[in-house]
Amino acid sequence: MIRRGILAITGASGAIYGVRMLQWMEFRFDTVYLCVSRDARSVLATELDIEEGDDRPDLVAQMLGRKSERVVAVQPDDFFTPPASGSAMHDGMVIAPCSMGTAGRIAAGISNDLTTRAADVCLKERRPLILIVRETPLNLIHLRNLTALTEAGATVMPASPSFYNQPTTITDLVDTVALRAMRHLGAGDGLVPEWQVPTA
Ligand SMILES: Cc1cc2nc3c(=O)[nH]c(=O)nc-3n(C[C@H](O)[C@H](O)[C@H](O)COP(=O)(O)O)c2cc1C
Repeated sequence: MIRRGILAITGASGAIYGVRMLQWMEFRFDTVYLCVSRDARSVLATELDIEEGDDRPDLVAQMLGRKSERVVAVQPDDFFTPPASGSAMHDGMVIAPCSMGTAGRIAAGISNDLTTRAADVCLKERRPLILIVRETPLNLIHLRNLTALTEAGATVMPASPSFYNQPTTITDLVDTVALRAMRHLGAGDGLVPEWQVPTA
């Protein structure tokens, strides 16, 4: 079975969630459409020193540590790509990290870029849409938008890592969220450690 997924990275803090999702999705999917917003590029540079430059590999190669034919980079202003159409089959979309701006635009049905359009398509086609949202504290507008998104069928998954499996690295912490998202995409088999009650 051919598996396709969409990953959008927006300009919230936590660019590492996007990088880690790309690594896991590239591992489990045949094709990953990757859409990085303009502001996400700034945050990737600020937080992870990932940016385009003459003497640097492209963004995907920097995020994966190598090139990959499975990852198809699509531009945020390009609607002539498969994620923009409900006719193009795929197994779901993750936005990681998801800014409150992008969440608000999706909640309001404002499909003014490829990410918000692809998310809109997921909701209308009843396909998985997982938003790894990042902001704190949340104002009433954020909360109402996240409620509307949940009511419309999206899964709101805050970038809120868990500690009960005793993570020791930032990557371990990020994976407590990223692997949960993989499971909600239906692609997390065998990846998510299940909680075992400690024995004496
Ligand atoms: C360093 C940095 C960190 C940011 N962190 C957040 C954040 O955690 N959550 C958020 O909603 N916006 C955050 N923003 C603001 C977004 O980048 C901004 O609202 C942007 O317009 C989002 O656009 P996009 O969703 O199209 O990427 C941050 C901006 C910068 C420069």
